[in-house]
Amino acid sequence: MDKFFLLPLLSLLIIAYGVSGSIDPESDIDMVKELETFDIEEQDDNVVDTYAIPVWKSERGSRSLMNVDSFDAVGDGITDDTMAFRKAWETACSAAKSVLLVPKEKRYLVNATTFKGPCNDGMIIQIEGTIIAPDEPEKWDPKLPRQWLEFTKLNAATFQGDGVIDGSGEKWWAESCKKNKSRPCKGAPTALTIDSSSNIRVKGLTIQNSQQMHFTIARSETVRITEVRVSSPGDSPNTDGIHITQSMNVVVQNCKISTGDDCISIVNASSGIKMKGISCGPGHGISIGSLGKDNSAGIVSKVVLDTAFLRETTNGVRIKTWQGGSGYVRAIRFENVRMQDVENPIIIDQFYCDSPNACETQTSAIKVSQIMYRNISGTTTSKNAMKFACSDSVPCSNIILSNVNLEKTDGTVETYCHAAQGFGYGVVHPSADCLTSSDNDFAAKDQTQLPTEQHIVHTEL
Ligand SMILES: *[C@@H]1O[C@H](CO)[C@@H](O)[C@H](O)[C@H]1NC(C)=O
Ligand SMILES: *[C@@H]1O[C@H](CO)[C@@H](O)[C@H](O)[C@H]1NC(C)=O
Ligand SMILES: *[C@@H]1O[C@H](CO)[C@@H](O)[C@H](O)[C@H]1NC(C)=O
Ligand SMILES: *[C@@H]1O[C@H](CO)[C@@H](O)[C@H](O)[C@H]1NC(C)=O
Repeated sequence: MDKFFLLPLLSLLIIAYGVSGSIDPESDIDMVKELETFDIEEQDDNVVDTYAIPVWKSERGSRSLMNVDSFDAVGDGITDDTMAFRKAWETACSAAKSVLLVPKEKRYLVNATTFKGPCNDGMIIQIEGTIIAPDEPEKWDPKLPRQWLEFTKLNAATFQGDGVIDGSGEKWWAESCKKNKSRPCKGAPTALTIDSSSNIRVKGLTIQNSQQMHFTIARSETVRITEVRVSSPGDSPNTDGIHITQSMNVVVQNCKISTGDDCISIVNASSGIKMKGISCGPGHGISIGSLGKDNSAGIVSKVVLDTAFLRETTNGVRIKTWQGGSGYVRAIRFENVRMQDVENPIIIDQFYCDSPNACETQTSAIKVSQIMYRNISGTTTSKNAMKFACSDSVPCSNIILSNVNLEKTDGTVETYCHAAQGFGYGVVHPSADCLTSSDNDFAAKDQTQLPTEQHIVHTEL
């Protein structure tokens, strides 16, 4: 190892602020302590394990069981069971203490549907069998171009079981502009969406081969997702595993995600998000963003990733924003992460451009600050184990590294900084001197010169 930071935190802060010109190490120590310790409760009293399977089995007398088969679902994988599911939903939704059951060892073909609430609180959606989507994009319901199974306006509902939700995405992938450049880029359905809901628990399901994103949590509050598996090929385009948008107080725990895009992505207007015990790969890593596309505002704060294993992913822990956005990403802690053969283990990319055309240089940007990386180790396949490519006009600040150790099997590793300020303590390898010193690209250069170099403008296509 070439460089260690072993100085006490206070002297590092003084060094850091000596360079950056700021002067209040006391309040900055508070900031670091806050970043090190803030947390999101894993169990919420409103959604604890009261609806476990044995409960509904033993209490079947007091719960009303709605088996989709009782509504004439066939479950042979060929017959259209959409109507049966919709009828079962209507009945289960209006009944007290209901269980909507998708029985095991059957395959139900179901079209795009919005399952609407409000329903009676405490409903259980018990999925034991397989639900499959029609596989023909040309015949998809044009009224629901971005949804397959959408649940909206629920309170205190539980989704659970050993069942599978299968988007039959193959033809959608082949038609993606990322696979066939002569095709227009357009959206495809998300397999499972939970929208405008609260106190939701999702446990044990497998979601696979989605048309695009697998599982979206949107406009929701207090959601606990545990032991969910996501599986689709590493080359399936835009198939994010779990996507969180405009939501608060969400915990994603003990999930295994293999996919062709981000394992988890957290976007606009989300805060109080915890990810714990996440296995990711293949995939594009765990991301905050993208944010700021088309000059939009994006705000994400209070996010914790604690304990993750990423294997052969393109990114490890990533923050990605487009040029031209506004808003901020603040108070983020990535910790206890192990990486194996990850291309960009630690990356902040404020020049994100997931578009077939080059993105214009713009000055406004999302402010990225108070980002902590702690106990992160493993191997990278690229030289830049850490890359902080921040906006010239809105530089990143307070990037804090502690006990980071990333190696490349054949060759040396480096940290890349552009308009990024911060510091490290404990072991930091490769050295992150560029966050405090003038090897920061930004500080060394004429600051009126905007970054046009190819090496910092990142394109995902
Ligand atoms: C499901 O979609 C198919 C076309 O893929 C259509 O023929 C059928 O009528 C739809 N079923 C329902 C219940 O809407
Ligand atoms: C790509 O899309 C074009 C236009 O839709 C189509 O004609 C062509 O067959 C597709 N190519 C492949 C390899 O699927
Ligand atoms: C971001 O979230 C806010 C608040 O929910 C919303 O009003 C706004 O439309 C969102 N912006 C984008 C680009 O999604
Ligand atoms: C560091 O992270 C690894 C990988 O998640 C974990 O096994 C280990 O216990 C962590 N070490 C400390 C000191 O927390």
